[in-house]
Amino acid sequence: MTRPYVIGGNWKLQVTSLSEAKRRLEEIDSHLENFDIETFIAVPSVFLYSVSTQNLKLAAEDIHYEESGAYTGATSVLSLVDAGIGYTLVGHSERRIIFKETDEEINKKVKLALKYDITPVLCIGETAKERETGEYKEVLRRQLVVGLQGVENLEKVIIAYEPVWAINNKALNPDTEIKPATPADAEATHSFVRRVIEELYGQNISQSVRILYGGSMKASNAEELLKQPNIDGGLIGGASLKAETLIPVHRICSSLN
Ligand code: PGA
Repeated sequence: MTRPYVIGGNWKLQVTSLSEAKRRLEEIDSHLENFDIETFIAVPSVFLYSVSTQNLKLAAEDIHYEESGAYTGATSVLSLVDAGIGYTLVGHSERRIIFKETDEEINKKVKLALKYDITPVLCIGETAKERETGEYKEVLRRQLVVGLQGVENLEKVIIAYEPVWAINNKALNPDTEIKPATPADAEATHSFVRRVIEELYGQNISQSVRILYGGSMKASNAEELLKQPNIDGGLIGGASLKAETLIPVHRICSSLN
């Protein structure tokens, strides 16, 4: 089965002025005219009402697990609907580790996004220690089983496998060298993730769900990663901040299509 590539960007808290956000998004957006590749960029939610794009889809970096209420600092799924936003990241490792989100909360977020027809990009991934000790398969299985509990329409979910040790974030990896997964290791783990999804949802759905790789992905390593049969795109942090680093990844996707 051929699954169409998806390229996602994740700006985190790296762009902090509206004029800068607009300038960068416009530049990326204009290049995307030349590619038929589903692309979204998750930006800080404070920008979501004030930016607009043509070819590029916008995403939230997170939503709260309740629609509304007394939750200081949170972003409501209803605001995403109001702003016309079609995607949200859920359970990024920075949310799990720094903000101490649990799989149960993440599960509520996935279901809430789906309730409002917003595509949740469910991020999963193991730490360096969990990889070393071999517990990583158990960790990924738990993140999938609990994160997707009660989710019926998996067709609308995108999964992003982002090994924590590969994410270019020193705070998440204080004691280890940050490096992308090798294409072979990433493929083996993606194929494991797809097998868990098959156990949960059956073969047809597991073959159609898109599983993105994230963690230090950039033009110089994207081709080998994206060539792997179970890698269906990328969730890209640092390299999504500028057209000059993101668009080469689109060129690679189109050459592989
Ligand atoms: P990175 O971030 O590409 O800068 O490693 C990826 C992510 O955190 O989604």
